[in-house]
Amino acid sequence: MDSVSKSNDVALAVENISLSFGGIQVLSDISFELREGEILSIIGPNGAGKTSLLNCLSGFYSPNQGKVFFKGKNITRLPIHKRAALGVARTFQGMQVYPGMTVLDNILAGRHVLMKTNFLQAFFHWPWVHKEEIINRLEVEKIIDFLEIEGIRDSIVGELGYGLRKLVDLGRALALSPRILIMDEPMAGMNMEEKEDMARFILDIE
Ligand SMILES: Nc1ncnc2c1ncn2[C@@H]1O[C@H](COP(=O)(O)OP(=O)(O)O)[C@@H](O)[C@H]1O
Ligand SMILES: [Mg+2]
Repeated sequence: MDSVSKSNDVALAVENISLSFGGIQVLSDISFELREGEILSIIGPNGAGKTSLLNCLSGFYSPNQGKVFFKGKNITRLPIHKRAALGVARTFQGMQVYPGMTVLDNILAGRHVLMKTNFLQAFFHWPWVHKEEIINRLEVEKIIDFLEIEGIRDSIVGELGYGLRKLVDLGRALALSPRILIMDEPMAGMNMEEKEDMARFILDIE
């Protein structure tokens, strides 16, 4: 067992991560820890490697060297969906909403990776399917309430402004009931009011 992963309140530990693409060194020997309840920002100019680092946390990229621990568990080689099921969720620099779907359905879709029900069970309407569906709806309602987007719950996401779409993307990530929320450029392209709102939501996330 590696050293930094032992402490109990360390949610995420990155140990000596390096990443290169065809001879270009993007990350070299990065280490840090994130504790429960902590907010950690990574800053740097364009091309510095911020997105690449976040990709190593969420599983989109696999570092050439080093390890990533989530609550002491080595997740370095775990695929994205398994990390998501553990509670590692992310929003995207370019967003990952379904533009043709409503706000409500986008957020509901964010919960899919948590659902135990498969297609056949849903088809037969077994009792626990119904229960799971009710829980999902309740969680989604909580998120809509938290993000103060009741007014647009039935709006088509593609027809919303940029700042609201960013909020929906946040809602989709929150629908995973994440233990760690990874946000890539959460305020890029927002106006001042949208930035203030986003900052408040980030601070208020539990
Ligand atoms: N999939 C990839 N293939 C090749 N090069 C990549 C890939 N992803 C990122 N890079 C390179 O890694 C460097 C850091 O990019 P990035 O992580 O997007 O930086 P930032 O998010 O800080 O702007 C850039 O030079 C970029 O071209
Ligand atoms: Mg980036």
